[in-house]
Amino acid sequence: MLDQAQALRTLVRDRLTSGGTIRRPIGTYTIAVTSGKGGVGKTSLAVNLALLLSRSGRTVRLVDADFGLANAEVLMGVNPTFTLSDVMQKRIDVSQAWTDSPGGVKLLSCGSGLEEMANIDSTAGLVLLDQVMASASDGDVIIIDTGPGIDNTVVSVLGIADEVMMVTTPEPTSLADTYAAIKILLSRSADANITLVANCCNCPAQASALAEGIDTVCRRFLDKSLKRYEYLPSDAAVGWAIRIRKPLVLSQPQSPVVSWLRKIAIRLEERIRDARSCCRLGEV
Ligand SMILES: Nc1ncnc2c1ncn2[C@@H]1O[C@H](COP(=O)(O)OP(=O)(O)OP(=O)(O)O)[C@@H](O)[C@H]1O
Ligand SMILES: [Mg+2]
Repeated sequence: MLDQAQALRTLVRDRLTSGGTIRRPIGTYTIAVTSGKGGVGKTSLAVNLALLLSRSGRTVRLVDADFGLANAEVLMGVNPTFTLSDVMQKRIDVSQAWTDSPGGVKLLSCGSGLEEMANIDSTAGLVLLDQVMASASDGDVIIIDTGPGIDNTVVSVLGIADEVMMVTTPEPTSLADTYAAIKILLSRSADANITLVANCCNCPAQASALAEGIDTVCRRFLDKSLKRYEYLPSDAAVGWAIRIRKPLVLSQPQSPVVSWLRKIAIRLEERIRDARSCCRLGEV
């Protein structure tokens, strides 16, 4: 078995020979769910959107790319046999690392509490994600749940996404970090397609004010306008679903937050269809 340092060296060498970027899968709609600040509801949103899109007939791949702190598996209620760490250590091929999850979603976890993943350098992280994207390219939709913030790996993942779903909450710290994350992302990928989800709001008016505020600042200082989704209310059902390890849309389909999640899934489905028809037109 290769030791960790050797595995990393091999990965970096492979990366250098493969051109140095994550390749964007063709024909697949990739959504990166991200945020400036942590703990704003990304994983919950990613897991439940994956299930809703799968239910509407899409083949969905969910990638937990929160290196070292992956927890989509907890929300999904599955125990992956393998993780990206096994891929990095060359124990398995990336195609073997996917875990069958509720609703037909296939999940790839980068593992939790694994030091080698928590400390992965950004080059090796990109190599792994490049392999992941290649092995997920048979799906209609790839949802990538990222860690919070603006480190190199996260920004690179956002750069190849068809849509960067930025999750924010009404807290001033979250707003400030959202703006910072958007600014850094745009400095690397000026044409990023950024959409905003206002989570944990008390009412639609609060969400509108929040989204309007961020949009205004982005337009004024970054010359970028953001598209918005419906809001998500603060709802105790979200925490309950995590505690019982059953996805919210399956365990509490009648909860208010699920009805708003469905609205987001419907809008997302429209965006996927639009992107597909643009591609087809481009092919003609
Ligand atoms: N709409 C909501 N209503 C109530 N609680 C929520 C809501 N969304 C998220 N939460 C709570 O926020 C916490 C963090 O959720 P989650 O793990 O999805 O966030 P995250 O952004 O992925 O966090 P991290 O940055 O650590 O990966 C959880 O305890 C969850 O119950
Ligand atoms: Mg998370």
